[in-house]
Amino acid sequence: MSTVAVVGTGRMGSAMARSLARAGSDLLLYNRTEDRCRQLAGELGARVADSPADAAAAADVTITMLADEAAVRAVWQADDGLLAGAGPGGVLVDMSTVPPDVIRSFEAAARERGAGILDAPVSGSVQLAETAKLTIMVGGEAADLERARPVLERLATRITHIGPLGSGAAMKLSVNTLIFALNQAVAEALVLAERSGIERATAYEVFATSAAGAPYVGYKRDAFVDPEAAEVAFSLGLAEKDLRLIVEQADRIGVRAPQARTDLEQVRAAIGDLGEDRDASAVAVNLRSASGSASPSGGG
Ligand SMILES: NC(=O)c1ccc[n+]([C@@H]2O[C@H](COP(=O)([O-])OP(=O)(O)OC[C@H]3O[C@@H](n4cnc5c(N)ncnc54)[C@H](OP(=O)(O)O)[C@@H]3O)[C@@H](O)[C@H]2O)c1
Repeated sequence: MSTVAVVGTGRMGSAMARSLARAGSDLLLYNRTEDRCRQLAGELGARVADSPADAAAAADVTITMLADEAAVRAVWQADDGLLAGAGPGGVLVDMSTVPPDVIRSFEAAARERGAGILDAPVSGSVQLAETAKLTIMVGGEAADLERARPVLERLATRITHIGPLGSGAAMKLSVNTLIFALNQAVAEALVLAERSGIERATAYEVFATSAAGAPYVGYKRDAFVDPEAAEVAFSLGLAEKDLRLIVEQADRIGVRAPQARTDLEQVRAAIGDLGEDRDASAVAVNLRSASGSASPSGGG
């Protein structure tokens, strides 16, 4: 049986590790904050690696699922990092949301050590990671993807080979442009309905069953309808990071992207009021508190 390492057991990494364990994978875990990963390893019957290098040396496929570019660079490039432990036969797969040039900057070192390398970011939240229903966008060589595919299939309903290394990351920024536009649109539409005198849950039910009822609208229902009770699935802090990357990518390649700039502004306003640890759907909470209280009929 092949061994899979998951490096970074945050919200998404933990959920992915659960899916891999359920599918019978021989699992090795590593996390900067060790407690977090020891607890999970106990729960899943997995082993804990001493360092990212040890994880990469022992695994056939090593997945990183980390917060941002700084985290990915720290974990891949440290003296005891992934690249130091990689060897022939192994494939290193970064699934974090980071700019496309990050994975390209690791390619020479990975190849020198005989390892395969892929960027394979995901669309879908914690719930979809836990139920192995992610969409995975892959950049890299087809031969490397074929080696990693049996592992990726344990996480996803859809795996699309986008193109060369970095193209998965570029695709992820594009699809997230759509997700954050939808997040902001749902927030605005919901507050508009509420302030028109319509009950929140009723309005959401109509959204979810309307022409605009995308899967995102369905699985964010609890977060939008009862924001104080729902668990954080994707933080405002990570949404700010993603939207910043989207705007930077748009500027780099000369795309105007006015919607993404507005979405970034709104996420930053929500962080200013609520802090960065709330779920990204809390843009609605912020909009609600920032909106006036004209009468439901419109106030004249
Ligand atoms: N949550 C979602 O719905 C979702 C969906 C699609 C894609 N993503 C992307 O998936 C990635 C992970 O998201 P998440 O929600 O799982 O985030 P999270 O819960 O905040 O977990 C972040 C992980 O990164 C690690 N980390 C942060 N800084 C580090 C550093 N400097 N060195 C080493 N490790 C570091 C954390 O380790 P510690 O435990 O030590 O802090 C933790 O394992 C992000 O790129 C996000 O944009 C998330």
